[in-house]
Amino acid sequence: MYFNKIRHPSNFTFASAYANQTLSVGAKTVQASVRDLGEDVFHLELNDAKRWPLDARVLPLHDDAFKINPSQYQLGISATGHLALTAPDGAELLSGVASASVGVCGSAWLVQFARNADMRFFGQGEKTTGLEKTGKRTKFWNADVWADHAMHTIENGQADPQYAAVPYLLVRHGTRWVGILVDHPGAVFMDTGSNWFFSGKDDQNAPPAFWFGADEGVPAFYVIAGDSAASVTQRLQRLVGTTPLPPLWSLGHHQCRWGYAGTKDLNALDAGFTEHEFPADGLWLDIDYMDRYKVFTTSPEHFGDLGAELKKLQANGRRIVPILDPGVKVEEGYEVAESGTAAGIFCHNPEGQPYVGFVWPGRTWFPDYSLPEGRDWWAKYSKAFRESGFDGAWLDMNDPSTGAAEVDDMLFNRGTWPHWTYHNQYAVGMAQATRDGFLAARPDERPFLLARSAYTGSSRFTALWTGDNHSNWHHLRTSIHCSMNLALSGIPFNGPDVPGFGSHADKELAIAWYKAGCLFPFMRNHANAGTARQEPWVFGPEALQVIRHHVRLRYKLLPYMYQLWNDQEKNGTAVMRPLFHDYANTDAMELDRIDDQFLIGPAILQAPLVQQGQQQRNVILPGTGRWMDVNTGDFLAGGRGIHVTSNTESTPIYLKEGSLVPMQVGVRTTAANDLADIELHVILGAGSTGTATLDYVADDGLSYGYQRGVRNVYRLTASRAGDVLTLDVSALQTGWKPLRLRVVGYDSASSLQLRVGDQRSTLALTPFAWNFSGGSLAAAASAPIDL
Ligand code: NOJ
Repeated sequence: MYFNKIRHPSNFTFASAYANQTLSVGAKTVQASVRDLGEDVFHLELNDAKRWPLDARVLPLHDDAFKINPSQYQLGISATGHLALTAPDGAELLSGVASASVGVCGSAWLVQFARNADMRFFGQGEKTTGLEKTGKRTKFWNADVWADHAMHTIENGQADPQYAAVPYLLVRHGTRWVGILVDHPGAVFMDTGSNWFFSGKDDQNAPPAFWFGADEGVPAFYVIAGDSAASVTQRLQRLVGTTPLPPLWSLGHHQCRWGYAGTKDLNALDAGFTEHEFPADGLWLDIDYMDRYKVFTTSPEHFGDLGAELKKLQANGRRIVPILDPGVKVEEGYEVAESGTAAGIFCHNPEGQPYVGFVWPGRTWFPDYSLPEGRDWWAKYSKAFRESGFDGAWLDMNDPSTGAAEVDDMLFNRGTWPHWTYHNQYAVGMAQATRDGFLAARPDERPFLLARSAYTGSSRFTALWTGDNHSNWHHLRTSIHCSMNLALSGIPFNGPDVPGFGSHADKELAIAWYKAGCLFPFMRNHANAGTARQEPWVFGPEALQVIRHHVRLRYKLLPYMYQLWNDQEKNGTAVMRPLFHDYANTDAMELDRIDDQFLIGPAILQAPLVQQGQQQRNVILPGTGRWMDVNTGDFLAGGRGIHVTSNTESTPIYLKEGSLVPMQVGVRTTAANDLADIELHVILGAGSTGTATLDYVADDGLSYGYQRGVRNVYRLTASRAGDVLTLDVSALQTGWKPLRLRVVGYDSASSLQLRVGDQRSTLALTPFAWNFSGGSLAAAASAPIDL
């Protein structure tokens, strides 16, 4: 697989006529069907059994999710074969290149649209190529990054492709937005205006265009049109499947290292986090916990009574998450290898033998998850693994990684499908099967799985970490735009290894990365074997204090974050997102160029310092409303840039005026949590005229009880007159234990008028100083209110 060369339109023959769902392409024809799915979501597919005999799409997308509103836009092909997306006012939002919209080149296909000067491109799933994807040439092919790219490119460059392939492009065209999801599991290629040159000469003949296509397999893609990045992203997420509500513990802090092997390491970590009063939910085990790297075994050297040892850690609030690799050691007498052989579920090579690759145990066979019986076989082992007491699973090497062995010899579907058909889907199959096994073991517990590789739709099954990064400032900066583009591409539950996997993290980087990453959707400290230790306490007392403070802050904000995951499950709303997701771009403020600020839900804006030695920066406060600076408690006017200085203790964070931010009570020193006992922070400054509303959702954070009504939902509405806050509470659902809340106000708020149903009361707000990030905030809080 070449990563840097892609197909060029000049080698394609383009459709010249269209009638009766038939495109004429040169002397031949192909069938073309355009479906309007509703809500301005469209699907276009070409069919020609001779050219594209194989349809390898195995994960159905939710084509039927768009019944609410009829489409206003139109995707159509004209009689001359011209493909266009037309807005309600008649403007062409996407316009095929004149006489060259849809083309073929043997079994390859390509679609190209005119590229206007005011178009900008985003998304593209997991890439390290910057926030904006304009002017890029790229491929979507799950790579085993450290095996497939040169280390200097990985360390300080933009190695492409990465581990996860989501062939999705988000296009801004003026004030309108279009998402294009290529509905194809093979190696999709895309060009958004890269410079085609040779020996210093530009390709002068090319009309400005952007294009995408694939080498073989049924050509198909979705188009989603809208007025905002947010509305397009929500519909993309509903199309590929929203992320199931995660267990609350998975949103906490996780500690990992290549080298943690068993009970001794886990006990030491448990003691370390307890001693330092540092909240941590997940303790992770890398490959050494297995018996000589054999999947679904544990090392007798590192465990005694496994069940009892795990229970002891779990009693202290820890969750244990070991790694699972798909590669099965080729070894006589190894039960997993033998049962897989007996079931005939390993991938074949072209000679009809099990395909052999090289991973940690040496020669390995690979389960064929494209087969339902292959997934069932894996699910059976995953069930037993869950029943043995482990809490979650970390799915690694599922790109799939085969060492130096050529992957093309790995065939699927009992040797009948060439490698390209399932390569990008391999991780999804593994994730599906593992999740099935976990649910079979504990039907009423939400599983938590983390994967390295992914494909369109995989957020239905797993969270994603962005693989083997490095402990350097370049990777810290990259992590921000990579996570935002993943969220825009339908993989919202993601995060990097903090403070970097390869290379050695030093104190300054560890502090900066923890501060920048403390509110990312997923947060795990992980390091490569042989690197300097990076548990949060190894950088000295000053670093420990700052790092711990920001992890405690994450825990304090878990009730807020939990609301965002509810919104994701229900509506597909991104959790971590770029500024342009929530705010319209203006000429004066090009929000879509800002790659070092981000939003966590609608209320929190972070603008971390991500340059070595940096102490000041510009921050853009978007929108017309005000933002509360959590360092000072000042309410600052939005719609402008400000210059801020920062220090070791603090990171620039702003809360949007008009928000209600539910938080856990007090300083969080452990991973214990209770969504029914909260502080409700009312972000309304003096002089505020607006209201703040929130439908607060609380449940046990673990089971599926919430789907059976075991949950509370309270509608909270706050406003302010002078220094008096008013809060209206109405219960929309009361299936769980009642809520206790303290109301916290800012900017001299001094009393609270509370209305719960018909009951009215007035409560004093008394001084309540606390530290969000940096300086002490002069807030005022009510006594606890029991609803
Ligand atoms: C590769 C993974 O990306 C990394 O996180 C892990 O530590 C090693 N495999 C060893 O299992």
